[in-house]
Amino acid sequence: MRKRSFIALGAGVLAAGGATLGYASLIERNLFMLRRFDVPLLEPDAEPLRILHLSDLHMMPDQRRKQSWVAALGGTDPDLVVVTGDNMADPDAVPGVLRALDPLLSLPGAFVFGSNDYRGPVWANPLRYLLSEREYVQGVELPHEDLRAAFVDAGWADLNNSRTVVKAGGRSIELVGVDDPHVDRDDYASVAGPISRGADLHIGVTHTPASRVLDAMAADGFGLLLAGHTHGGQVCVPGYGALTTNCDLPHAMAKGLHRWPGSEAWLHVSAGLGTHPTAPIRFACPPEATILTLIPR
Ligand SMILES: [Fe+2]
Repeated sequence: MRKRSFIALGAGVLAAGGATLGYASLIERNLFMLRRFDVPLLEPDAEPLRILHLSDLHMMPDQRRKQSWVAALGGTDPDLVVVTGDNMADPDAVPGVLRALDPLLSLPGAFVFGSNDYRGPVWANPLRYLLSEREYVQGVELPHEDLRAAFVDAGWADLNNSRTVVKAGGRSIELVGVDDPHVDRDDYASVAGPISRGADLHIGVTHTPASRVLDAMAADGFGLLLAGHTHGGQVCVPGYGALTTNCDLPHAMAKGLHRWPGSEAWLHVSAGLGTHPTAPIRFACPPEATILTLIPR
């Protein structure tokens, strides 16, 4: 009798585990959400300015549902679009990424790349995602130069170790960015320096929210810092949050809007819209895009 109870309990646990995994891989992974935050950053009496922040699409060619959802974000009519990398998960992903972003490419925009714009997935145990110290393994080369050319041809600013000023929403916006710190492609020193007082707004952009980069941008006076990479923890514990950020960012800042410690800067970390195809699950952390409405302080 007791043996039968154990078998029933084991079967119940297995069924619950299977149902949870099914939910995480089939349902929540596709529950795309649009989040909104107000960021009190502008001068008094300034008109609000809206930034659409996208990250971590990890696009596969056949992910039509994700492509359609992102394309519909054109209806949010942002003043500026910022994409913080990890756009691709397959060598044939460029058309799908461009199909998704097509309605946004006519708007002012800027981008940095993440490690997953350079190298594709390597198939491994999906639970590796929860290992904060896991080794970065390089997969197949991805067509990042094709993607870069498409973005730049559309007029978007390439912020990989670069600095520029763009016009958006009737404002002059100074942008600085680095290539992905997660794979040591960042070279902030080459673009460092105090913010230009001639610009109305100053934004720092990086794929991985590495403290060495965020500290340096904030010290130069950039008031809004945008990053992705964390996937918000990707597999979270309800009521607790992220178990990893896959970098030195505190777990409590795995996604959302926070003050960057020791500075006046705001940091927005996007939980992103995709998953690495080797770990195609999300739990208690739905995929997201974000509208940041900058308002007077
Ligand atoms: Fe990513």
